[in-house]
Amino acid sequence: MAPRYHAAVPEQAPVDQSRFRAPVGTHDVLPPESDRWMAFVAMFAERAASYGFGLVLTPIFEHLEVFQRVGESTDVVRKEMYDFEDKGGRRIALRPEGTAPVVRAFVQHHPPVPWKVWYVAPHFRYERPQKGRYRQHWQVGAEVLGVDDPEIDVEVIALAHGFYRALGLEHVNLVINSMGDEHSRPAYVALLREYLLDHGAQLGDTYRERVEANPLRVLDSKVDDWQDVIERAPQLTAHLSDESRESFEIVQRRLDELGIRYELAPRLVRGFDYYTGTTFEFQSTALDAAQNAIGGGGRYGKLAEEMGGTPTSGIGFGIGVERVLIACEAEGVSSPVSARADVFVVNAFRGDAASEGSAEAGRLVYELRENGVRAERTYGDRSVKAQFKAADKSGARWTVVLGQDEASRNAVTVQDLRAEGNDRLEVGREGLAEWLEMRRDEERPIKGT
Ligand code: HAM
Repeated sequence: MAPRYHAAVPEQAPVDQSRFRAPVGTHDVLPPESDRWMAFVAMFAERAASYGFGLVLTPIFEHLEVFQRVGESTDVVRKEMYDFEDKGGRRIALRPEGTAPVVRAFVQHHPPVPWKVWYVAPHFRYERPQKGRYRQHWQVGAEVLGVDDPEIDVEVIALAHGFYRALGLEHVNLVINSMGDEHSRPAYVALLREYLLDHGAQLGDTYRERVEANPLRVLDSKVDDWQDVIERAPQLTAHLSDESRESFEIVQRRLDELGIRYELAPRLVRGFDYYTGTTFEFQSTALDAAQNAIGGGGRYGKLAEEMGGTPTSGIGFGIGVERVLIACEAEGVSSPVSARADVFVVNAFRGDAASEGSAEAGRLVYELRENGVRAERTYGDRSVKAQFKAADKSGARWTVVLGQDEASRNAVTVQDLRAEGNDRLEVGREGLAEWLEMRRDEERPIKGT
């Protein structure tokens, strides 16, 4: 008898093809498109490592409470969460944003601070899908916990800023704001609520409900009819506590010093309630205004405490992978991954000059990192001895010592930590990154060459 290759399937119902497509608002990434993704993530990983960040992986779902901490009045929590009850009766949600899980992991494992981590992960929000706005999107992001110092705000912004630049994007605007702290915010929120209710009495129920729930959320609303009232509203930056204002001024000064251009955006409140202090967003002018945010973040002072941890301030950002790739396409760019070395910068300026040395160290690590060299430093007022100890612990190949004498000659002292003895060499600051790169893979110690 002839073989039968097809088992007869009697009376099978027609296949509903819509069931076998990726759900609305999600997409598959196939080769060769996925090559761009790989290069993108590799490049971010490389840069995050240069800035001293390690990869963190957290579950794709968490207990619902973890995400409720990002803000009961936010759209993400109120309307967009993919939440469900699992078979054990637990309330679970798919990750809508990356900061809460990282802080949850920090509180659970209490790693030593500063804790600098980066991630790449899918995120889920039940939004109305359109180009650049999906129900599953990917983010690369970075968070630092345990350093409440505006210098770190600047480093975090510099990491994201440099990444867009390394990708080759040119049409990116950085906007920054400060959300103030627990001393300045409540009084401002009360003032804003009163102002918005008084001046927008005619704007209807939705407006009034939104103002009552959280007047800050109304500030960055795009509803046309509300703009007149919103534009004349009191601004948070005019009501900051001394501490918040000083900190925000340092951020601006350091960005200026590093040549990172930004605009002040007093109405930038961003979509989560956890922000305190510096907030920022990177906007692509190559994209439609509704989806032009290609990354954003800020400082969150209370999240760890709200999750039962010891009070620990954090700062970080998330970058939307799809949106950046769309922006790259719109600008017609692609870019390779950069090389790196391994350096620890020691500030040896003493006495009154110590803070000048610290700013100098900030500039030097910035220059090195921007040249693809993995560079680290310490923060706060640490003795030279303590800095060398930190350098040892970091496993860096070289220390680069910034002393006052050398600085007057526009030079630094480089020491090879793998070399026996105490060989030091003075190197001109101009060519330092290139000098380090050339020696990066050398087996032999420097020995005065
Ligand atoms: P976010 O601004 O909500 O911040 O998201 C970060 C980035 O993810 C956005 O700038 C955008 O590029 C992208 N994105 C957001 N939603 C979508 C979507 N539906 N479709 C496509 N792309 C999207 C956060 O998630 C914070 N966790 C950032 C942060 C980290 N703040 C402090 N640390």
